[in-house]
Amino acid sequence: MKRGYNIAVIRGDGIGSEIISEGMKVLEAASEREGFEFDWIEYPHGAEHYLETGELISEETLKELKRCDAIYFGSIGDPRIEPGVLEQGILLAMRFYFDQYVNLRPVKLLEGVPTPLAGKGPKDIDFSVVRENTEDFYVGIGGRVKGKEKTRDELEIVRNLYSIKFGLDIETDADELAYQIGVVTREGCERVMKFAFELAIEKGKKKVTSVDKANVLTHGYGFWREVFTEIASEYPDIETEFNFVDAICMWFVKNPEWYQVVVAPNMFGDIITDLGAMIQGGLGLAPGGNINPDGVSMFEPIHGSAPKYKDKGVSNPIATIWAGAMLLDDVGEKGASEKVLDAIEAVLREGTVRTYDLGGNSKTSEVGDAVVREIRGLY
Ligand code: IPM
Ligand code: MG
Repeated sequence: MKRGYNIAVIRGDGIGSEIISEGMKVLEAASEREGFEFDWIEYPHGAEHYLETGELISEETLKELKRCDAIYFGSIGDPRIEPGVLEQGILLAMRFYFDQYVNLRPVKLLEGVPTPLAGKGPKDIDFSVVRENTEDFYVGIGGRVKGKEKTRDELEIVRNLYSIKFGLDIETDADELAYQIGVVTREGCERVMKFAFELAIEKGKKKVTSVDKANVLTHGYGFWREVFTEIASEYPDIETEFNFVDAICMWFVKNPEWYQVVVAPNMFGDIITDLGAMIQGGLGLAPGGNINPDGVSMFEPIHGSAPKYKDKGVSNPIATIWAGAMLLDDVGEKGASEKVLDAIEAVLREGTVRTYDLGGNSKTSEVGDAVVREIRGLY
């Protein structure tokens, strides 16, 4: 019997559908050559489904998804819906429900792809960002308080804030403010940091860089730093360093060759990987894996839904195809995963088939076709 995998497909919004089609096309081609099969199970979740039914993603759907080997996700976001609704209700809901505590984002400049960094090439830009994916400011704890409608805790926060900042007695003053709380747990730090060190070992890398802002956000990131130091002591052969998040933004641009594996709290990881995407040639080339090493993982391009390009067939599907290669690796098809990445590299190196973002005028589907041709040629 052939090996087979059940893959849940959520195309999502905007360009999500067209890029996922290319990804599926490529993964199908790889599976044919490698002798395994995919069973694709499509889910309609996204803006349209929400507007029609009011469902973001239900517990029932999540339970169903739990039975899949992996989730292949397009992109989310629609101008008709207030920011945050779909992101929290669908994408973050899945990251949290499946406890996908690692967001693995390779930052690798492939040959043939221009980088905006003068004097830097593929040898200089090749590292992985391991973003914590379930904690920090993403936990959704916060609120908005006004006047006297406050709980005891809120009153405490507001009282401290106002008396320190403005010297005001909050009981008597009318006030309005919003707050958001970031949470960093020992377990949350340990598991993602261990993943980063193990990844370094697996890839033969020598250094892990930890990102924080321990000089200002001392509670949360001071703790992050403390746990990192402890975990690092279990890996004496790996060199370590700390970078403040603002500094690493500067160094990514100036000396990207310094980095091998970077581990970052959720929000900083989000921010630095958009920068990472730009130095590797743009958002159209940046994949990500939301990984639970013992559970269901989800693979997606890191870019958004680019609504204005929807159905135009001009978007670059490479990030999604690359995310598909990561999915193959995750389900255990390492050979196929490498072949897909080799094929992507061959198409980019050759350079005649490329989308608008890379200075070409090929269609989204032509890029998928070119990758498929390369895969067939590799066997
Ligand atoms: C990302 C995105 C998401 C995030 C949004 C869409 C919720 O920016 O995957 O990087 O902030 O994690
Ligand atoms: Mg982001």
